[in-house]
Amino acid sequence: MRRRLGGTGREIAPLGLGCMGMSWGYAERGRDDARSAAVIRAALDAGVELIDTAGVYGDGRNEELVGRAIRGRREDAVIATKGGLVVDDLASRRMHRDGRPETLLRQVDESLSRLGVERIDLFYLHRVDERVPVAESWGALATAVEAGKVRWLGLSEVSVAQADAAHAVHPVTAIQSELSLWTRDPLGGAGETGAGRGTGAAGETRAAGGAGAAGGAGGGTEPGGDLLGWTREHDVSFVPFAPLGRGYLTGTLAPGEFEDDDFRAANPRFTPEAFARNRAIVDAVSRIAAAHGATPAQVSLAWLLARSERIIPIPGTRSGAHLAENLAAADLELSGAELGELDALPAPYGSRY
Ligand SMILES: NC(=O)c1ccc[n+]([C@@H]2O[C@H](COP(=O)([O-])OP(=O)(O)OC[C@H]3O[C@@H](n4cnc5c(N)ncnc54)[C@H](OP(=O)(O)O)[C@@H]3O)[C@@H](O)[C@H]2O)c1
Repeated sequence: MRRRLGGTGREIAPLGLGCMGMSWGYAERGRDDARSAAVIRAALDAGVELIDTAGVYGDGRNEELVGRAIRGRREDAVIATKGGLVVDDLASRRMHRDGRPETLLRQVDESLSRLGVERIDLFYLHRVDERVPVAESWGALATAVEAGKVRWLGLSEVSVAQADAAHAVHPVTAIQSELSLWTRDPLGGAGETGAGRGTGAAGETRAAGGAGAAGGAGGGTEPGGDLLGWTREHDVSFVPFAPLGRGYLTGTLAPGEFEDDDFRAANPRFTPEAFARNRAIVDAVSRIAAAHGATPAQVSLAWLLARSERIIPIPGTRSGAHLAENLAAADLELSGAELGELDALPAPYGSRY
């Protein structure tokens, strides 16, 4: 059940933990650092290794939280963080891309200090900066690897061409991109139903520039192409972010319940109309879940795990109960017919940013 982490020779647990929502993106009222640190430690206790954070999450707060949580447990964790975005305004989560070598190298040092570790296991370029050739940003990060500050490198939300350009300079260990039952852009349309395409991939990525406060920033770069196929060909891991559709696919959310400071309050996929029109997706997932005595969250994760050995999802949660539920998805086996039904789900209504 363990999965190879890129071409590193390291094998890790099939599911990681996304820590973003503990400090950024989701309603502030639900934030509780002590509880979140306990969730991170419970994940390590359960054998989770890949712990996902980023410098911009809470403008450093999330890395500090992860650093505190893993103290004394460093060897149990594979710490993944990201650079290449800069927060302009924490309250509105406005940020911009900066992939200049000097910025990235400064951010590596800042992440090391906030995490309180000697070396970061996996450092992602969070977004490609249009003004800087990806090979230049990546080359700078490769010097951080040579300096022993970072072990492996990853890319987030890139195109196949950008992945090629980076891989020619230094091996890519992982690609992180949004992939779930309702966002399938990284599958490049190969044999897919087109969920995630219906709203127009170009519109989605352009919008990711402005309002993508929970992960996107500084528009322009087009993630795309058959990225999952690319990871298979190049012995690279694929790390789906927002694998639960930011909570939608768990079937536990209702329209209008998001507080103003929650990223979903202004997200086109979380309007009352989108809830109504996307009902068929969550209903189908719930039906399959019921047949297994499982939950929609577990089915969503099991579908991802079944797609490829390269896939290591990082569901995000601030709840110990949800963590345990999500980890049990690794033992859920869906039949070929069920996987086919999930593959055939309609494209969602509403762009992802
Ligand atoms: N590279 C990028 O640009 C990028 C962008 C976005 C996110 N990410 C990473 O990906 C990780 C995951 O994405 P995400 O957290 O945005 O979205 P997600 O994993 O799709 O969904 C998280 C949401 O689902 C809820 N949830 C989790 N498990 C549940 C369960 N079993 N039942 C009911 N609700 C459940 C969480 O609430 P509770 O807290 O109540 O469980 C939270 O509201 C992030 O934490 C971050 O590390 C990366």
